Amino acid sequence: MRINKYIASAGIASRRKADELIENGNVKVNNIVLTELGYDVKPGDIVEVNGRPIDVEEKKIYIMLNKPTGYITSVKDEQLRPTVMDLVAEVDARIFPVGRLDYNTSGLLIMTNDGDFAYKVAHPKHKLGKTYIAKIQGFLTRGKIAKLEKGIDIGGFVTSPAKVNIIKELPKHTLVELTIYEGKNRQVRKMFKALGNPVVELERIAIGDVKLGRLAIGGYRKLTQKEIEHLSKA
Ligand code: URA
Repeated sequence: MRINKYIASAGIASRRKADELIENGNVKVNNIVLTELGYDVKPGDIVEVNGRPIDVEEKKIYIMLNKPTGYITSVKDEQLRPTVMDLVAEVDARIFPVGRLDYNTSGLLIMTNDGDFAYKVAHPKHKLGKTYIAKIQGFLTRGKIAKLEKGIDIGGFVTSPAKVNIIKELPKHTLVELTIYEGKNRQVRKMFKALGNPVVELERIAIGDVKLGRLAIGGYRKLTQKEIEHLSKA
């Protein structure tokens, strides 16, 4: 949110007065006097006006994004690659991604400004299944499927039993629907690599009962009240 709007929504000054406060050097962001009128307040920024920290209680917002490949799931990228924030730039709230999808993974990503909700959804103890469609090299034998269903060692970590559903066998690849119950870094890729069937494409299609459906790639929509409740109760 633009700094003058942020200050105005805290009830401290009108937007125009907020600009004056900035010009007069009365506004600090993260302990540094702000010189840029058009500054965008980021999650975690500490804004002070005349030496007093201000906090704006934002309306809580919950969004589902269909993340394309080629975007980093983070608020900022030091290498200046595109981030998921670029896709939700029109959302006027300090939202951030819940959990992470790899640069080369597409699909369902939830974004919110509700820290408690984000913690619940991301925490493995809540056992929300995360469902992916993976295109993998080669084919899965019954033995390999059984390993996924039992739990597989991905290098110092044994996964919880996963649900596996073979969607289609292609000439050289298989499309597999996989539901996992944790969210270790690159977990799905590591699971299939451990079986000798590297992932070539990966898309997340659901978290718990919340489904991506037909949302356009790069598009987003608000979660329904029912979806929010499902995810927070899990
Ligand atoms: N597992 C992966 O390997 N990558 C993701 O992006 C999500 C789950």
